[in-house]
Amino acid sequence: MKRMRILLLGSGGQLGWEVHRQLFCLGDVFAYDYPQIDLTKPNEIVKLIQNDKPDLIYNATAYTAVDRAESDEKNARMVNATTPGEIAENCQKRGIGLIHVSTDYVFDGQKGGDYVEIDKPNPLNVYGKTKYEGEEYISQSGCMHLIFRTSWVYSRRKGGFLEKVFDWARTNRELRIVVDQIGNPTWARMLAVLTTSTIMPKGQEFITGFFEQHHGLYHLGGKGAVSRFEFTKAIIDFLPESDPLRQTRILTAMTVDFPSPAARPAHSALNCDKFEKDFGIQIPAWHESLQLSLIS
Ligand SMILES: NC(=O)c1ccc[n+]([C@@H]2O[C@H](COP(=O)([O-])OP(=O)(O)OC[C@H]3O[C@@H](n4cnc5c(N)ncnc54)[C@H](OP(=O)(O)O)[C@@H]3O)[C@@H](O)[C@H]2O)c1
Repeated sequence: MKRMRILLLGSGGQLGWEVHRQLFCLGDVFAYDYPQIDLTKPNEIVKLIQNDKPDLIYNATAYTAVDRAESDEKNARMVNATTPGEIAENCQKRGIGLIHVSTDYVFDGQKGGDYVEIDKPNPLNVYGKTKYEGEEYISQSGCMHLIFRTSWVYSRRKGGFLEKVFDWARTNRELRIVVDQIGNPTWARMLAVLTTSTIMPKGQEFITGFFEQHHGLYHLGGKGAVSRFEFTKAIIDFLPESDPLRQTRILTAMTVDFPSPAARPAHSALNCDKFEKDFGIQIPAWHESLQLSLIS
């Protein structure tokens, strides 16, 4: 069996870090992250594709600074849309499979329920808008692709939401967390497992057959919709009894209490039934993943 050659972009991010560990069992991995690669320079990425000659590209990069993107639209668009579009065109020309990740922020949150794949996006901010443009470029390129839209990605890595909560709790006895934003907390490790070793073909010769069976857009996040308040409360409640941070009081707040440059959708939780049905996989409940992430 010929081993796959896999190009991983964004190996230092929350998701990319976990994906790197999953891809080992699937083939030869060529992993890069900023500043070694810079998605604001599409030509560099094209050269990388020419040199490494991958069978599969996993794009875990993104311009994820939602507020900063409002005043840095040009770079956000390059990273989230223009260069992924360029990558997709190269994948199409060379018969390379592409896995790309997108966001619940393509939606405006006004539906009043969980979003399915055929719901119409209407992003409220530059991040969501540029991520949606990226999805469109990829699907229009005609390359073999899977796009996984996910939500509220967290990990134990520095800068991730869990560490932020612990940092806030170390310096505040009470935390005020918004109760009017609803999403699916998604453990980066779970997302990595479900988008790589669990579903991907083993061996280069199976790539085309795989993408013939599975392609297009899927919603994939931790199962269950919760508010940021409930999520944060669970993070604290799952700590061991002996942990002093467990005494932190979590109080409700509203989004209007924290003015920010970028508007956020109110209810952008994703319905992930299509993924479960097509891949025959049961997605773990968000709180089960959270518990595991805290002991890992
Ligand atoms: N985080 C969330 O809550 C969330 C929610 C929904 C969807 N998503 C999507 O999930 C995917 C993974 O997100 P994540 O949480 O793992 O994000 P992350 O931790 O911010 O990782 C993104 C990676 O992209 C890299 N990057 C940024 N600008 C770059 C550039 N110009 N050139 C090359 N690399 C660049 C970052 O490098 P630096 O760290 O050096 O900047 C980082 O390694 C993304 O597609 C994101 O849109 C995330």
